[in-house]
Amino acid sequence: MTSTYHGNIMAGLPLFENTALGQMRDGMTKDEMVAQYDSFAELYDEETAKRDYQGPRICAEALAKWLGDRKSSCILDVAAGTGLCAEELRKLGFTSIDGLDPSQRSLDYAMSKNRYNKYICDFVGANRTSNIDNDSYDAVSCCGGFILGAMEPDCLPDLIRFVRPGGYVCITTRNNYLTTVKAYSGGKLEAAMLELQNKGFWEQVSRDVVPGYHPGIDAVIFVYRVLR
Ligand SMILES: C[S@@+](CC[C@H](N)C(=O)[O-])C[C@H]1O[C@@H](n2cnc3c(N)ncnc32)[C@H](O)[C@@H]1O
Repeated sequence: MTSTYHGNIMAGLPLFENTALGQMRDGMTKDEMVAQYDSFAELYDEETAKRDYQGPRICAEALAKWLGDRKSSCILDVAAGTGLCAEELRKLGFTSIDGLDPSQRSLDYAMSKNRYNKYICDFVGANRTSNIDNDSYDAVSCCGGFILGAMEPDCLPDLIRFVRPGGYVCITTRNNYLTTVKAYSGGKLEAAMLELQNKGFWEQVSRDVVPGYHPGIDAVIFVYRVLR
């Protein structure tokens, strides 16, 4: 399998300018976005490592604080990409981890590294929902899925739906995306999270901002307990 990078996935992203990895641009369609990740699948791990990308470790460690039994907990890693979050979850003792991502080439790469038990090529979100039964998992991890051109607030109900009541959803992304990404800015992402809480679907158990998502770039980590 070879990857041929064929676009400017990097436009405007601090830290990644003039390289082959980066954020999507506004107005990109879902299919265009997937094509970019497909074309970049074999370069992703190397390029993120060069920039000391710690998001997957931060996400895995945050989720592990809330899950009791690591051997028996079933986790769905949403926006799995090449499976960096699964690598970190496995280091912490989790063994039952499925990966969902619309980029088949990214999942193929993850499969070549044996990172997931099951590989689900699909979107989450309104009208793009994967055929996963309600309450299938003890937890969802989602690292770097809420970024420009990728997951929007309408993906949140699916994340809740996948998890059994009493389970957890951990969402990690760059803190500054809450204000710089159009779909989340003006408090839109957090308002959508709060609306779901007010409707009784989940409750926030932690919201932390920590340094080191990349050097000099903070992570925001949301952990929710599913109630419905
Ligand atoms: C920056 S990568 C993050 C990959 C991995 N979690 C990590 O931290 O390295 C973002 C991923 O989100 C995926 N993605 C974008 N929109 C999505 C959606 N609606 N549902 C699920 N995954 C999506 C992309 O295909 C891409 O692989």
